[in-house]
Amino acid sequence: MLLTGGAGFIGQHVLRELAARGHEVRAVDSLRTDVHASSAWTPPAGVTFERADVRDGTALDRMLAGAEAVLHLAAKVGLGVDVQDLPDYASSNDGGTAVLLAAMARAGVRRLTLASSMVVYGEGLGHCAEHGAITPAPRTQAALSAGRFEPPCPHCGEPLAPALVSEDTPLDPRNAYASSKVAQEFYAANWARLTGGAVAALRYHNVYGPGMPRDTPYAGVAAIFTSALKRGEAPQVFEDGRQRRDFVHVRDVAAATVTACEQHGDGVRAYNVGSGTPRTVGDMARALARALNGREPVVTGGYRLGDVRHITADSSRLRAELDWRPQVEFADGMAELARM
Ligand code: UD1
Repeated sequence: MLLTGGAGFIGQHVLRELAARGHEVRAVDSLRTDVHASSAWTPPAGVTFERADVRDGTALDRMLAGAEAVLHLAAKVGLGVDVQDLPDYASSNDGGTAVLLAAMARAGVRRLTLASSMVVYGEGLGHCAEHGAITPAPRTQAALSAGRFEPPCPHCGEPLAPALVSEDTPLDPRNAYASSKVAQEFYAANWARLTGGAVAALRYHNVYGPGMPRDTPYAGVAAIFTSALKRGEAPQVFEDGRQRRDFVHVRDVAAATVTACEQHGDGVRAYNVGSGTPRTVGDMARALARALNGREPVVTGGYRLGDVRHITADSSRLRAELDWRPQVEFADGMAELARM
């Protein structure tokens, strides 16, 4: 197996899972400086590692020779802070995937597991009591600053109740990162049609756990709250704290990724990867504060214009088709963060 992005947060857990299941593993990672503090990285014993960028087709030709399958996790993450980020997302993610797929075709490798994201669904799905399932529009600055956090039904203006997004929900990428994840999925589907290859696209939900990026622009809310609590500060919860996410543990995500790689051998299939239990950001902050014995969270009413209100997945396809079950209980996962 070849794993790209093997030195990343999720990649390192995937490497461990592959090794634990007895796979012969090769890994590439560019150790890009906006993510990795050091240009050196030591892989776990038994893993062949090459520092290389996935846009380097020659390095990929070397690493792909004789490989059975590819797990493609290498990507520029985050959301993109401004329009000047677009070329780097397009080059690192879209371009990198295109180079990888071409190299896989040369090497005759026919199976791809792709790290995608729930962010491909945009604002997700809402439910209006009168008008049924609705794709909410982006929230306006005026509504957010007036404290109207729930996106309204475009027909009657009533707040929408959050609904679970299935893999068939239309894609609606709303930032550079989301657009690049959608592009990766489409390039992979093109490659599959041309080569007869198989693609499993895993749309990860909010991943947390040991090794998560902290104190970088890529830090998710669980990492931001952990850092604040460890400094003796109260977590700052935006909006009214009732926005919902599905926090899924990185070891469960790694197991889902390796299971998809082992089992998905035909066609193109997307899988949502979430714990199946949506939580509010406020509840997560309180659970973490308890686990760390830290200060009570403060609900600030502040907001980030690009944030979606709710995004929660229906991850039942992964359970039904690949027999995957999350193993890490939320309270245990939070307690583990406290020990990090
Ligand atoms: C996250 C990932 C994204 C992934 C997506 C999949 C990060 C940085 N982003 O986006 O890559 O594609 O999940 O579902 O990991 N918040 C606070 N206080 C803070 C910071 C954030 O209340 O100090 C709130 C935000 O307003 C938001 C929620 O926490 O409502 C989650 O924010 P964040 O962790 O940045 O993740 P997502 O936007 O869900």
